[in-house]
Parts: sequence; C-alpha cells; structure tokens
Amino acid sequence: MAEKILVLDFGGQYNQLIARRVRECNVYCEIKPYTMTLEEIKSFAPIGIIFTGGPNSVYLENAPQVDPGIFELGVPILGICYGCQLMAHTLGGQVTAAQEDTAREYGKTETYYDTRVKLFKGLPEKGISWMSHGDYMAKVPEGFTLVGHTDACPNAAIADEKRGFYGVQFHPEVSHTQNGTRMLRNFLYEVCHAKGEWTMDDFCKRTVAQLREEIGGGRVLLALSGGVDSSVLAALLAEAVGDRLTCVFVDHGCMRKNEGDEVEAAFSKWNIHFVRVEAQERFLSKLAGVSDPQQKRRIIGAEFGYVFLDEAMKFGITKEDFFAQGTIYPDVIESGAGDADVIKSHHNKLLPAEVVAQFKKVLEPLDHLFKDEIRQLGRELGLPEYLVSRQPFPGPGLAIRILGDVTADKLAILREADAIFREEIANSGCTEICSQYFAVLTNAKSVGVMGDGRTYENTLVLRSVTTSDFMTADWTRIPYDVLDRVSVRIVNEVPHINRVCYDITSKPPATVEWE
Ligand code: XMP
Repeated sequence: MAEKILVLDFGGQYNQLIARRVRECNVYCEIKPYTMTLEEIKSFAPIGIIFTGGPNSVYLENAPQVDPGIFELGVPILGICYGCQLMAHTLGGQVTAAQEDTAREYGKTETYYDTRVKLFKGLPEKGISWMSHGDYMAKVPEGFTLVGHTDACPNAAIADEKRGFYGVQFHPEVSHTQNGTRMLRNFLYEVCHAKGEWTMDDFCKRTVAQLREEIGGGRVLLALSGGVDSSVLAALLAEAVGDRLTCVFVDHGCMRKNEGDEVEAAFSKWNIHFVRVEAQERFLSKLAGVSDPQQKRRIIGAEFGYVFLDEAMKFGITKEDFFAQGTIYPDVIESGAGDADVIKSHHNKLLPAEVVAQFKKVLEPLDHLFKDEIRQLGRELGLPEYLVSRQPFPGPGLAIRILGDVTADKLAILREADAIFREEIANSGCTEICSQYFAVLTNAKSVGVMGDGRTYENTLVLRSVTTSDFMTADWTRIPYDVLDRVSVRIVNEVPHINRVCYDITSKPPATVEWE
C-alpha cells in the first residue's frame, strides 16, 4: 500500500478510534508503538504521522518521547492531546501541569477554530470538542501559531503550516467532537495530500494477487469456524487458489445449539472442499476441571492447532503448504501486540509453535482489518448477507461463557438458554440494535420459589452490545417486554435456571465476553 498514515501509539484510550476514522476516510493506516525507531519510520514511509493521546505528562521523567529526528523527515504530523503536548515539548515549547482548574479540561467543551488553517478548513468557527487533559501548554514552540481556543484555554490547537505540524488538545476521533472526522479528513487530504486509495474493492484485488504470488502452487488449510471472519477469508482464498483450499471446521463441543449442522449446511452449498471434524471429546477432556479464563483459552487455542495438524496429515498437506486463519485487527491488539496490555488472548493467537512449524507459513491476510471492514469485504466478494451480517462468535465458544469449569451438563443448560434468547431477539426485530447477544452461565446459585417449592439454582446473565467495531461497545437498550419474555421463557423452559440478569456494562470498562 503506497499511501499510509502512521499512528504512533502513546497509550491513549481512543487510539483504535483514530485508526478507524482514518480508514473511514479511505486512507490506510497502522498503529505502531511510540518506540518505533526513526529508521523503522523511514522505511514505513508514511505520508503523514499522527501522535495519539496518552496517560502521561511529557515533563515527567520516563514519559514516552520521540526521536526529534521525526520532525526533520518532511512528513506532516498531527498531535492529539498528549501527542500535541509532546510535539510542543520536543520542539522547544513548555508544557506544565495546569495550575488553575480552568486550564484543566474534561468533557464537552465549546471550542473556537481559526478556519483559515488547513486543519479546520470548511468548518464552522465554533463547535463542541471532547477534552481530556490536565496539562497545559504554557509556551508554544517557535514557528507555531494559536489556531484554536476555548474559554479556559488559549491554545486548544496550534499549527505550523509551513512544516505541516498541527496539534490539538482535544480528541477529534471521538464522536462527541463536532466535525472531528472532518478535521482528520482535512489533515489527510489538505495537509498530507492523500488520494484516498484505501477501499475494500482495491484491498480485495491486491490481496488476491498477493496470495496467489505467495502461495504459488501450494495448498492451504483454512481454519473455518463459520463466523464472519473465517467465512470471508474462505471466499478470498477460494478466489486466490481455487480447489487447492481445504476448509476445516472443528466442532469442539462448545458450539451453540445446532451450530455444527448449520455451518455444515451453509458451506456444503459452496463449491469448496469442506471438512467437519467432531472433536467434542478431545476438547472437553482437556478442559475438565479448568476454571481460569486464560487457561481455558490456551487449552482451546492449542488443541485447535493439534486438530488442524491431524487433518493436514490426513489430506496430504505438507510443510510446503500453508495454514490460514481469519485473525482480525482487534484479535491482534487485544491479545497484546507491542506494548499494549493483554486483555485476553484470542484463540487464533495461541497456536503452538510446533504446529506453526509444520507449515510453510501461517497466512492471516485480514489481520489489519476491523470488523466492519471485513463485512464490507465479504459483500465485495459476493457472500450472502446472512453470513456477512452474522453476529460474531468467539473461537473458544461457550467455554468462555461458562464461568468456572466447563462440563457437558453446563453446556447443555447454556445452549438451551442462549437459543431462547437468540430466538426472541430475532422475533422481536431487535437485531438491528443488537450487534452481539448471548447468554452467560455464571457459577452463582441463588434461592428462588417455583410452584410452592424452594429452588436453589443457577443464575444466567443475558448480554447484548451495540457496536460496529467491537473494540468499544455500549450495552443494548433492549425493550423491557422483550427481556421479560426471554426471562420467563428461560426460567420456565430450561431446567436448573431460576434467575436471569441483564448485563448493563459498556466496553470499556467491561469487555464483550465475560472471560
Ligand atoms: P471482548 O470480549 O474482547 O470481545 O470485548 C471482542 C470481540 O471479540 C470476540 N472474541 C473472540 N473472537 N476468538 C475470536 O475469534 C477469541 O478468542 C475471542 N475472544 C473474544 C468477542 O466475541 C467479541 O465479538
């Protein structure tokens, strides 16, 4: 990809959003740790650089810094919040802790823009911006002018238009900032002179060509779960290598009700080599007695690898051939890429090294795409809408929706309850607002009364989130009458559940899945 923006990550909470917004503007970008060296930056060859926000104060010892050489590359830079202060600090300005409460700003703030500068071209002169900073630029560096202010802060935005350097104290990537995407678009198109080459159609053509070249005459074994990501990858690989693709679907015993049959039915219609492996016993025996979430994930991730290896041998796939999986960008980030914290290890990042070594290469061509980009790509490839718009289902399946150890009995309870929830959501027409919805079996028991008798049974939690990228999410405002129907049906129809709760936590601070 010739046209790239580099997003240098200083640990801010909205960093994924910056990348999403840039890509929405049809410009490719990657998030890299701020520790990237100058040489690495040069060879990445970005047309522009964005410094993200971050939790630090630039004047403190050990605060993240950049090589000052970055300002000599002749590449435009946009600094956001910490990134803005870092640019000011490095180029000879002065940043201090805000002395007065007024210079410290959090939340929606009325902001005034100098619309003569490229960053704010075409914007209204006044608008709401989202602030979140406790530091203050006491002196801006030479060459910069003040191009934005609020009632409390004279330098909400600074610019050195000659060098193409811009800094904003607020967060243009957050939807609360009015015209924020337009500011980013201005940076990309007016300042960095982007052409807008990043489209799914283009990605599709380029990736198919690259895959053909890389795979040559080799064969590919694809880990196919039937979810959006691996289904889209199946279509992409089928386009690239045709019948040299073998798609292996593993039923690990933690699938939803009827899922195995549904996946088989859907893919049997395709003109691909589809294999279903019944590995329930294998996985459940390995999971027996294990309660720790990461440990469950590790066991499942590894076992998947060993099953795929067995299948590869069965089908004569050798070390000269390839293994492919539908890893996407959030899988990489949340599994702890670079300096980021490991939130949870997504199953496809847990393949044992000895499995990887049995293939020429592991192909993950979607590992830089966000969920909604994958859906767009699926449509581009002509996949049926029911596959493209399916709600995501995590590789480890119900094993990470049963808190505590996983048993066949618990799986049976959860499967029934989850099926009722999904059926009622589908009947209610709420699927538009429910991006992902499922049931979780807690290991809490509580007292209830049914008929005239006391019960002491399991507590079930319903979870539904509304999101497009699954990196951040809000809990879905499902109408009460729908929740009521689900609750009544579950308690009446599913033995061993006597209490149903609804999870009203967004992400962050929670995650979508409970484990
Ligand atoms: P969390 O729980 O991390 O989930 O907020 C974000 C999205 O990722 C899905 N997820 C996974 N998908 N393998 C997957 O393929 C995994 O190990 C995994 N863990 C979480 C989750 O269902 C949600 O859509």
